[in-house]
Amino acid sequence: MKFIIRISALLALLSFTSACAPQPTKEVPQEFKKGQEYFHRVCSNCHGSDAMGGQTKAPRLIDTDYIEKEFSNDEIRETVLNGTNKMPSQKNNVNADEITEIIKYLRYSQKTANLTVEEDISEENDDGDESEEKEGA
Ligand code: HEC
Repeated sequence: MKFIIRISALLALLSFTSACAPQPTKEVPQEFKKGQEYFHRVCSNCHGSDAMGGQTKAPRLIDTDYIEKEFSNDEIRETVLNGTNKMPSQKNNVNADEITEIIKYLRYSQKTANLTVEEDISEENDDGDESEEKEGA
């Protein structure tokens, strides 16, 4: 009898640890919490915890490729609603307001991620000592 009790306790324990959608690891200000929650309910299975990718082939969205200048809010909305060749439409999983919150959350995460944006500065003007290489030492 004791044995059976132990087995069922074990099973109960196991069911607690079973896999679920990736959880956020970052604390965000109150105004972005809803978006974070929606993102982790709908998108993180593919786009990873904190939209950092690594979960599947879905890209990391906290990336210079997806900042507003490169990929507008309207484009994100359209991607979510219509999907792409590789991403299934999410229109049955989120409503318009939820998408707005997700976009706010993604923009906040991008801004606070210290992404280095490539600029059109040529490497040629070389007047700093730090970039000089040691030669003939
Ligand atoms: C079932 C997996 C899956 C889910 C769920 C998912 N995505 Fe995607 N997403 C992908 C894949 C795969 C790609 C790459 C698509 C491509 O290259 O065409 C992608 C691409 C994107 C892109 C970039 C599109 C482009 O043209 O570069 C954005 C933005 C995006 N997803 C946002 C979201 C948001 C926001 C959600 C949640 C509302 C979400 N995705 C949910 C799989 C998913």
